[in-house]
Amino acid sequence: MTETFDPFELQDTILGDVRDPHSVLAEARRRGNVQPGIPQMVTVAAHRPIDADALMFTAYGHDAVTAILRDGETFSSTVYETVIGMVMGHSILEMDEPEHRLHRMLLSPSFSNRTLARWEEELVRVVVDELIDSFADAGRAELVRQFTFAFPVQVIARILGLPREEYPLFQRWSIELLSVFVNWDRGIAASNTLRDYFKGVLDDRRREPRDDLITELSVAEVEGHRLTDEEIFAFLRLLLPAGVETTYRSSGNLLFGLLTHTDQLDALRAEPSLIGQAIEEGLRWEPPIISIVRKAARDTELEGVTIPAGSVVNVCVGAANRDESRYPDPDRFDISRDPKQHMTFGFGPHMCIGMHLARMETRVAITRLLERLPNLRLDPAHEPPYVQGAAMRSPAALHVLFG
Ligand code: HEM
Repeated sequence: MTETFDPFELQDTILGDVRDPHSVLAEARRRGNVQPGIPQMVTVAAHRPIDADALMFTAYGHDAVTAILRDGETFSSTVYETVIGMVMGHSILEMDEPEHRLHRMLLSPSFSNRTLARWEEELVRVVVDELIDSFADAGRAELVRQFTFAFPVQVIARILGLPREEYPLFQRWSIELLSVFVNWDRGIAASNTLRDYFKGVLDDRRREPRDDLITELSVAEVEGHRLTDEEIFAFLRLLLPAGVETTYRSSGNLLFGLLTHTDQLDALRAEPSLIGQAIEEGLRWEPPIISIVRKAARDTELEGVTIPAGSVVNVCVGAANRDESRYPDPDRFDISRDPKQHMTFGFGPHMCIGMHLARMETRVAITRLLERLPNLRLDPAHEPPYVQGAAMRSPAALHVLFG
């Protein structure tokens, strides 16, 4: 680990300073909902191709994306084994059925509504309020560094029941793990360190069970199956990119949408119950992850395009979310839009296991910001913010004034 570690190296995981991928994706989608190849910005930005020799296809249309994600037999998730698997271990993300179903059943109870209600009360509000306390009197803040970047990792640390004094270390390893595509060796080293760290915590919980997620995973049992230690470590490591980076970026994107569309911010302030649909619209309009991936397990055909077995399919949820056949005027950020399911949490068997947690965290975060920082607005002394990234997307900074 270097002395001068800047957590904002994480920003590199966006793979390139692309500001408007949406018009490129829309143009591609109009040419065909499924096409050979991947958008050039992704080719240019990808540091590590998943499989350099495989044929590549991209699904842009909403129906095509839904069809692929629904059919895990034809479109396999084992594609993640090559890159993400090397960093996380054998996690649920890269499993096909029936192994996947069993793991889903083992893990889902930990994210039940009852657990979420408790986490909201005991953990999420505490983290959010503590962070807001640290800048509430200043009249100004940079919300990415001071708020959105910080809260999801602290929430996960609390959910795991880690001791407070270990948060800074945990945050640092998490960031190093997340920036693995920028610095492979450091990312792999962090993955090993986190494994050893989690091993210590797991051993502790086996000796002395507690009321936390690691204890729950250690005793979870379905149909006579238990998670092995390596499976627990893989899941815990997966929670960092899956549960931390996504939530940090999506809450920044929603704040960006609201702060740059002040009429909608005012509407939300006047009617706080609009928060649920504001969150969904933020997720649809500017998802933190543009694409997920599958591999064709057999020869198949989709919307008239032949996809040979072994092909890698770039499933572009960002393009599907702006498919004009489903969302009228799709580029408009509009929190009063008729709610329709978006693809940001995926779809089908692998649909995000943490989506209710992500929604709850975002609701608490944005609601408390608006309650506690009156007249929250962009600071005109700074350049107008923008969302950037070809793979992961979020604003690099959100300078605001309040009070
Ligand atoms: C806005 C925030 C989030 C977004 C946009 C998001 C997005 C996604 C997507 C698209 C998938 C499906 C991947 C695929 O099918 O290849 C997924 C799966 C997953 N997510 Fe999330 N996620 C978010 C938050 C979270 C949180 C908070 C957690 C947990 C703490 C989490 C844990 C997971 C896990 C474990 C999976 C794998 C599920 C499976 O393979 O069955 N995610 N997420």
